Amino acid sequence: MSSSQPVVDPGPEPHATTGEPVNTAGARSGTPPPHSPEAAPDHRYLLDNARREAGERFGWLAELFDGVTRGHLDRLGLRAGWRCWEVGAGGPSIPEALAAAVGPTGHVLATDINPTWLDPHGGYEVLRHDVVGDPPPQSGTFDLVHARLVLVHVPDRARALATMVAALKPGGWLLIEDADTELQPLACLDEVGPAQRRANRLRRAVRELLTRRGADLRYGRTLPQSLRAAGLVDVAAAGSFPVGGVACDRLETATVRLVRAELLAAGLADDAEIDAHLAAVDAGELDLTLAPLISAWGRRAA
Ligand SMILES: C[S@@+](CC[C@H](N)C(=O)[O-])C[C@H]1O[C@@H](n2cnc3c(N)ncnc32)[C@H](O)[C@@H]1O
Repeated sequence: MSSSQPVVDPGPEPHATTGEPVNTAGARSGTPPPHSPEAAPDHRYLLDNARREAGERFGWLAELFDGVTRGHLDRLGLRAGWRCWEVGAGGPSIPEALAAAVGPTGHVLATDINPTWLDPHGGYEVLRHDVVGDPPPQSGTFDLVHARLVLVHVPDRARALATMVAALKPGGWLLIEDADTELQPLACLDEVGPAQRRANRLRRAVRELLTRRGADLRYGRTLPQSLRAAGLVDVAAAGSFPVGGVACDRLETATVRLVRAELLAAGLADDAEIDAHLAAVDAGELDLTLAPLISAWGRRAA
């Protein structure tokens, strides 16, 4: 697939169980083009799972963050017999890890607005579900609900949180992990030359695209307060981010290829700049980094 191919917009997806279109605000035909004066805000998910690069991104996100996530899951007491809901699962790695931990006496539900990259035979249940527009599946029954890098993208984060809290059984844990790119917005921490400056400029351009799609780039820091406001108790949080390495490089390549057409269409970058950046990433000398991942957890009162 050419890296300059436009981002595919498959339009509203049918709901897995009802056949109704999933609520993806702004994605319907007949709406004015994005950014026209009368246009409703365009809250379609930017990093569309329909693209091959989205699958690559899930592999590298797993490499970078699954260790962090699994550490938190262990500390929360994940064990055999638990019922778990993985929200906005993206790729299969966390649903598979949950399924291995809960064993045959437990149950894992993995949902996404586009579950293309999930394996319906992977030992967990797969459901197309919009955490903002759809009611909680199996309300009040989960020991654990987890979402990583999902809420930052959705238009109504408080509603999504309420849906996840409603799915917990009394005493059940919610673990939410989201980026805070305002805390650390750079692609290269040390701007020693033109390649690093270009990398940081392009990272700002990608952040601008995300903002235009309704992402809240300072959402991570609000998580403890948001979890308390949603009625949870025993709330705490931690943060981390990787610096340098192959996984950061490959994630950057997949992300820039995924949004390339959008960057060009928005006039936020040109072909020469993107090609030069991708070549510099390939050379492996940028020590690319990411925004901090804030992991916050809380429990529904027993
Ligand atoms: C950045 S990816 C993160 C994937 C995975 N959780 C991870 O950490 O690797 C965001 C995921 O959220 C999904 N998503 C976006 N909006 C959603 C919504 N309203 N309801 C459910 N899933 C959504 C996307 O389709 C995508 O798979």
